[in-house]
Amino acid sequence: MDQKHSFDISGELYNRALNSLAGGVNSNVRLAETPHPLFYDKAKGSKIYDVDGNQYIDYVLGQGPMIFGHSPDFLLQAVTEASVSGQLFAGQHLLELEAAEAVKSLVPNAELVRFASSGTEAVEAAFRLARAYTQRNVIIKFEGHYHGWSDSVLFNTAAPLKPLNNDIFPEPEPMSRGVADHSESGLIILPWNNFEAINTVFEQRGDEIAAVITEPIMCNTNCIMPKSGYLQHLKESCDRNNSLLIFDEVITGFRVSSGGAQSFFGITPHLATFAKAAAGGFPVSILTGSKEIMSLIGTGTVMHGGTLNANVMSMAATKSSMEHLSDRKIQTNQKINDLGKKLMIGLQDINSRLEAGMLVQGPGSVFAVSFTDGKEIFDYRSHVENSDPDRYAVFVSEMMKKGIRINSRGIWFLSESHTDEDIQCTLSAALEVLQFMEL
Ligand SMILES: Cc1ncc(COP(=O)(O)O)c(C=O)c1O
Repeated sequence: MDQKHSFDISGELYNRALNSLAGGVNSNVRLAETPHPLFYDKAKGSKIYDVDGNQYIDYVLGQGPMIFGHSPDFLLQAVTEASVSGQLFAGQHLLELEAAEAVKSLVPNAELVRFASSGTEAVEAAFRLARAYTQRNVIIKFEGHYHGWSDSVLFNTAAPLKPLNNDIFPEPEPMSRGVADHSESGLIILPWNNFEAINTVFEQRGDEIAAVITEPIMCNTNCIMPKSGYLQHLKESCDRNNSLLIFDEVITGFRVSSGGAQSFFGITPHLATFAKAAAGGFPVSILTGSKEIMSLIGTGTVMHGGTLNANVMSMAATKSSMEHLSDRKIQTNQKINDLGKKLMIGLQDINSRLEAGMLVQGPGSVFAVSFTDGKEIFDYRSHVENSDPDRYAVFVSEMMKKGIRINSRGIWFLSESHTDEDIQCTLSAALEVLQFMEL
């Protein structure tokens, strides 16, 4: 499906945007789009359209939230109907209660819930709560895991890599200028999927560790699955040392299963954070945890606020999303996992035929593609050392020309609106692009 593929109108708008928006965009992640950030004006189901009239099968899906596809009728109707009666009461309303009950019915560790608007905020709340509950300061964060852009956690998410200390410990590296001095004093950075590293750090500093935060699947780096027993080992290590395990389910939540990665793997963390797929594109994040821990927020001992928290639109979207995910006739999670696996297998098959050096890994509903020439990727260092970002950038740009929109950072998201035809079309495009790249 080669298309006209001009970006002229987007280019003009982008140049105009440079005069009013810093960098022409509102999230630095969007700076990466090539040949420059594009402007879109319509999205429905699995398709998105740019202002130059190009149509794409979309695997970016708003960076993950659009689990039902773009502009789902049931969600738009729920939000529209609810919001005509008021948008923000600065007081309680029935929808927030119903949304919380619906989250509780799906998420194993959700004895109590708090809503906010972004994943970054939910992670901040989890950190404060963990520190208050344990009366300790240090949080273990893994190299290559992204938990939002706040000072307390924006460390070691991108190359270049510095050498390890004692063959195990990465130096804390802030990922932006302007991160407050000493933010790293509340963190220990470790390599992920490494049993020895976690054992060593708990042996040495167990009584300082408030919490371990982990993406249960390392979606932000090549969709790396946890090694067998690793998440269980993290949970047991935390339990033994009276530390808390936090699952950052901002990507995995409501996606890999309706109860998130904690249901998928059968491991219940003490606290968990959700966002993206919680509300199909409306701004919602969720902190979940046990009554005992969450009651520190409930009693006001730990401050958690937010003017826009649980606004009517977000709660209508959350309630409606939870009901949709619970509907056994629809089976959203089964469907997106099956579609994703079909696409992964198709890509792996093309890769074997062409010996293209491509690695495809992940659970299905979300997965990652990179070029590694047969080398394994099991943690952040192996990703940086073994994958070829320049080759992937060519792949992304050629796929865009064929009407397939994929993320420049390697992660592919599926929605329930994707069809078998979309998958076939994507595989045909991938075959042509990989043949072209081999020339
Ligand atoms: C695992 C994870 N945690 C936290 C965040 C931050 O969420 P937000 O961008 O909503 O602040 C992200 C964003 O991509 C994420 O992938």
